[in-house]
Amino acid sequence: MASLTIRKLDDAIRDELRLRAARNGRSVEDEVRVILREAARPDALPKADFPHENSILAAKSGQRPKSDITQRVTLIIGGGIAAYKALDLIRRLKERNLHVRVVLTRAAQQFVTPLAASALSNERAYTDLFDPQSEFDAGHIRLARECDLIVVAPATADLMAKMANGHADDLATAILLASDKTILLAPAMNPLMWNNAATRRNVAQLQRDGVVMIGPNAGEMAERNEAGTGRMAEPTEIAEAAEAFLRPPQAQPLAGKRVLITAGPTHEPIDPVRYIANRSSGKQGFAIAAAARAAGAEVILVSGPVDLDEPHGVIVKHVESARDMLAAVEAALPVDIAIFAAAVADWRVVSEGAQKLKKTGAALPPLQLTENPDILATISKSKDNRPALVIGFAAETEHLIDNAKAKILRKGCDWIVANDVSPSTGIMGGDDNTVHLLTRRDSEIDVDSWPAMSKDGVATALVARIAEQFKKANP
Ligand code: C5P
Repeated sequence: MASLTIRKLDDAIRDELRLRAARNGRSVEDEVRVILREAARPDALPKADFPHENSILAAKSGQRPKSDITQRVTLIIGGGIAAYKALDLIRRLKERNLHVRVVLTRAAQQFVTPLAASALSNERAYTDLFDPQSEFDAGHIRLARECDLIVVAPATADLMAKMANGHADDLATAILLASDKTILLAPAMNPLMWNNAATRRNVAQLQRDGVVMIGPNAGEMAERNEAGTGRMAEPTEIAEAAEAFLRPPQAQPLAGKRVLITAGPTHEPIDPVRYIANRSSGKQGFAIAAAARAAGAEVILVSGPVDLDEPHGVIVKHVESARDMLAAVEAALPVDIAIFAAAVADWRVVSEGAQKLKKTGAALPPLQLTENPDILATISKSKDNRPALVIGFAAETEHLIDNAKAKILRKGCDWIVANDVSPSTGIMGGDDNTVHLLTRRDSEIDVDSWPAMSKDGVATALVARIAEQFKKANP
């Protein structure tokens, strides 16, 4: 059996391996074993079918990591009365941050127009197999391949019959025949058509072919006084099914853990209208809170003043000053993990003016400063209630690693996420980040430098490392 020296690998591949291993909570060696096992399987999929794999390589080459790219749905609208609901489905898919390309059959255009579909999808809607403009570059093949999922809604009895028999005499059926992607059908037809022996045969055949179906539901039909099974599933149900397929529920490696995160700047009042602040946006801390929640943790986010939406499922405490932040942090203890991503102001004025300070024309107002409590150091050094893992951030404009190493020891935390916040990096307030993770074992400090990533990417990778750490401690 060949042996493989990780150190001899290209930097980008090594980084990729580390991130993959961290995400999956495995050692790099174990990850390599898994990859080799996957690659050796006779039915191994081509690499591009795995959404996370190229994230670091893409980040290094300046592209967005693939996991940040919106997933694509080709929506085929069949010709039935339920087609009007397909317009709502476009919106439901788009609000889930999915990219939607619409194809209408000829019959569908009797119910909804390509114009309405393209206005809602923000894309050209496709209708013709023999459209010189799109067929010039094999349009139906591209529509079939350049997506992550095909949804057919409504799937009429006729369209299903054509699919079951491999017809390809219009754009919709040609796409369906040329596709190697999962197909999600939302059948809609009169109950008599649904129960007809021919439709039953076709449904059984399509299911054998691996086509997935949602609905039809039971209820009132469009035809007067008719009811039964045949109503198209509701747009929200179809969108949820599409999303569940595209984003299968994540493993929850932090389930049962309580995580505290600080984020954003603090505002230190000078008088009732003025304050000392900094340029922190809070984006990185909020992204970590969302990633920890997605990993199953109970998350408490203590945030200074920011202009961000609260992450779903997270308890958010809003504070203004460093002293408020410390009080909110102490009130949230005990926690298993504390991550201090806030850019806490180091100083505040000694005596805050009760009224707005006035220009006197003579002397300038005496703004005497005093030091704020250091929240990270206080919690790291606390005797009782110290979290098992305390992580600080080091935002520096020079000597990044040296300053971060000194900080980890001075503050007594376990890990530090260090980033260069010189204005030229665009990190403060921006969407991307380049970080180094410093981890301390007694007096030894390891430095792991990550490539440039989105702040969401940094958050996911950090949470994966935390999960790995806890798994090691309690295998
Ligand atoms: O000392 P400096 O501000 O560079 O340290 C950064 C780290 O310490 C961050 O994790 C920050 O949240 C934390 N910190 C704190 N309380 C302060 C100052 C910084 O928790 N007063």
